[in-house]
Amino acid sequence: MEIDLSGKTAVITGGSRGIGRAITMGFAEAGANAVPLSRTKTDVEAVVEDVRELGVESRVETLDVADSAAVEACFERIGEDLGIDIVVNNAGINPETALGTPSAVEDEGFDLVTDVNLGGAFACARAAGPALSEANGTLINVASVGGLVGLPRQHPYVASKHGLVGLTKSLALDWAPDVRVNCLAPGYVATELTAEVQDNEKLRKSIERRTPLGRFAEPEEIAGPAVFLASDLASYATGATVAIDGGWTAR
Ligand SMILES: NC(=O)c1ccc[n+]([C@@H]2O[C@H](COP(=O)([O-])OP(=O)(O)OC[C@H]3O[C@@H](n4cnc5c(N)ncnc54)[C@H](OP(=O)(O)O)[C@@H]3O)[C@@H](O)[C@H]2O)c1
Repeated sequence: MEIDLSGKTAVITGGSRGIGRAITMGFAEAGANAVPLSRTKTDVEAVVEDVRELGVESRVETLDVADSAAVEACFERIGEDLGIDIVVNNAGINPETALGTPSAVEDEGFDLVTDVNLGGAFACARAAGPALSEANGTLINVASVGGLVGLPRQHPYVASKHGLVGLTKSLALDWAPDVRVNCLAPGYVATELTAEVQDNEKLRKSIERRTPLGRFAEPEEIAGPAVFLASDLASYATGATVAIDGGWTAR
């Protein structure tokens, strides 16, 4: 069984690097037009070039997902030009200002993380809803193991990712049977987001020991499941959250 998404258009937030870039390239390799969105134009341009080299369409759009007016306008432009069949809400952050014990986290850090990780995903879903419905399309949210279990000293991140798991279920109910909505919950993946953790040998080793598969994932190992969930091979899946975590949540 092969996955062929030719003729479809996938929009991937946070598609300019890390997991989002791998998902963007995964969709392009499966034959879909693939549009990566992020705030940094030069990064977006580089991925768009790579996508076009695979012979599918793309376009350069910059977007801050926390700006809901910009989200509406961006999805409208893409929808008019290319249509929208697949949306991946992947943009996510976990900055220093949001880490630590509850007393160390100020409102600003909490709001920043929830505005991007959860509010941004909701805004993109809302903006893409009509196009997805018309296309009988599909939405994928990228949560985290932090959407399924607690992670100490990451309160805003964990709250936002649990929120995404819930949002996946409520959108799946509202949009069935026209639009399937699912969620991925990755474990630790080797990207810029985890660069400091990877560089801290003690912390990295403790995460590797805690992970049954004994290592961080490569971004491409999250892209495969995303392409699968968006394909007809997953035609009976909606409202589901799939852990791709090397066994982290099996403990
Ligand atoms: N790496 C992991 O171990 C891991 C594990 C579980 C889940 N995840 C989740 O997977 C997703 C991707 O993570 P990653 O590791 O690939 O992170 P990353 O390497 O830091 O990439 C994050 C992407 O999101 C974009 N982004 C950040 N803020 C944005 C905003 N306000 N609007 C639009 N785009 C924005 C970034 O581009 P700009 O900064 O240029 O906008 C970049 O393209 C996140 O949701 C993360 O929580 C990651």
